[in-house]
Amino acid sequence: MGDLQRFERFADFLVREFPSETRIWDIAGGMGKLNEALTARGRDVLTFDARAKHLPVQFAERLLTLGEPCAADLIVGLHPDGATRIIVEYATRHRLPFAVIPCCSDNSMPYKPWLRHIGEIAREAGFTVSESELKISGRCRVIVGRFV
Ligand SMILES: C[S@@+](CC[C@H](N)C(=O)[O-])C[C@H]1O[C@@H](n2cnc3c(N)ncnc32)[C@H](O)[C@@H]1O
Repeated sequence: MGDLQRFERFADFLVREFPSETRIWDIAGGMGKLNEALTARGRDVLTFDARAKHLPVQFAERLLTLGEPCAADLIVGLHPDGATRIIVEYATRHRLPFAVIPCCSDNSMPYKPWLRHIGEIAREAGFTVSESELKISGRCRVIVGRFV
């Protein structure tokens, strides 16, 4: 189990970094705990995850695909496993800012090269990329991409 503080800490980070982006898509959101934390901070959040069992939050019970019509100002992922890449691809297609805390890679890459790889993909797509660290145990590096 990851650090249970991660939802609150990431929600605080997101509202601080993105004060104007109110419609947030939380990709691979699991039970919807990040959604709950962001909703409590006044954001309009939709979680995508294939799980049938989840909290009573706005929830799309499916995996995100590139064909999904866009209704978000910001797309985020907290330990999104195999969905990390599609977050960046979707953000690229719709020129959305993104913030992701990667965990596992989708191609057997170790953690640090995977972080670098995600940053490189985003830079090549035209994002300005920055990195931060949340005060949580475990995988805590946040990659943020913005079109500026
Ligand atoms: C490690 S869990 C993290 C869940 C939650 N964000 C958390 O921090 O507790 C990874 C989640 O990714 C979901 N997932 C993987 N690929 C996805 C995709 N393309 N779209 C949406 N969810 C996806 C899985 O169903 C799983 O719930």
